[in-house]
Amino acid sequence: MNGNAATITSTQGIRVLYHSETFWMSDATKHDQAMKALADQAHGHVLVGGYGLGLVQRHLVNNPCVASVLTAEINCDVIRAVLDDDGWIWGRVWIGDFFAYEPGNLFDTVIGDTWADATDEYRDEFERFKLRAPQLIKPGGSVLAWTGDGGFEL
Ligand SMILES: C[S@@+](CC[C@H](N)C(=O)[O-])C[C@H]1O[C@@H](n2cnc3c(N)ncnc32)[C@H](O)[C@@H]1O
Repeated sequence: MNGNAATITSTQGIRVLYHSETFWMSDATKHDQAMKALADQAHGHVLVGGYGLGLVQRHLVNNPCVASVLTAEINCDVIRAVLDDDGWIWGRVWIGDFFAYEPGNLFDTVIGDTWADATDEYRDEFERFKLRAPQLIKPGGSVLAWTGDGGFEL
């Protein structure tokens, strides 16, 4: 295996996604609940930045107010690792940089989670999201993001 590849490990029933020694996501209850809270606020056609373990995508697909789910994921190794582990992907995926994605149509909801943590190290990424997301939504649409425990403010 490529030493730089994304890996998913499972310990005591909790799955963890790493890439290049960066912790990206786990499906521990608190993370899953945070993703469900985001998905519950979504409606219509939804664009997500970052696939991770696909937790928010699973909740979005199961939200009856959501019509479609498209994720921009920069790292195809993440998608390969999830496919190997889960056997499927929730919604559709565009492989590429969220910030370079140019949609044909605008979205009802845009959700950002391309940062590994809600800390100063990732603040520039979060601020970029805040500038880019409003350009991708229809009038009256919603911009949502994972902000940690108040680490970031939308
Ligand atoms: C914290 S995880 C997302 C977790 C996801 N919300 C979930 O429910 O499992 C962040 C993901 O964003 C991806 N990513 C990082 N920067 C990105 C970018 N600029 N564009 C698209 N995806 C990006 C990472 O490869 C990683 O898969």
